[in-house]
Amino acid sequence: MKKDLTTQKDIEQLVDLFYTKVKVDQVIGRFFTEVMQVDWEKHIPTMYDFWSNVLFYSGNYTGNPMQQHIAIHSKAPFTVTDFTQWNLIFTSSVDELFAGENAETLKQRAQNISTIMQVKLFQKK
Ligand code: HEM
Repeated sequence: MKKDLTTQKDIEQLVDLFYTKVKVDQVIGRFFTEVMQVDWEKHIPTMYDFWSNVLFYSGNYTGNPMQQHIAIHSKAPFTVTDFTQWNLIFTSSVDELFAGENAETLKQRAQNISTIMQVKLFQKK
């Protein structure tokens, strides 16, 4: 049986799997490898902090994701399809590794943030 997501290590395992999928993804991979030249050594630890803050309110993420995505969007516009794919990859990564209350909470929060991001991005044009 799968365990629930309960530790910082679990978050790190999830983020690692998510980006393994993202990097080779036909729909959204290009945002990370072509549109932006993502510095993975920096980005991955930032994402560990972001997701542990989302799930555990750890307080160790202080960035501004909205600002970053507005900048990316102005270089290469995101579509609803991109966000749908992002959500599919996120959800399938959680489900592949974990099951339980925290796993469900995290998927829900990711979905909520994604929706807010889309509302903000797509009304800005
Ligand atoms: C269409 C879907 C998405 C794509 C293609 C995308 C792509 C990217 C890219 C290219 C970066 C910049 C990385 C860098 O240059 O260092 C980034 C940063 C980030 N993304 Fe997304 N993103 C998407 C949706 C989301 C969603 C839905 C969330 C949250 C639920 C999210 C959270 C973040 C965070 C926290 C950062 C780091 C910001 C920072 O450095 O402080 N992204 N994203």
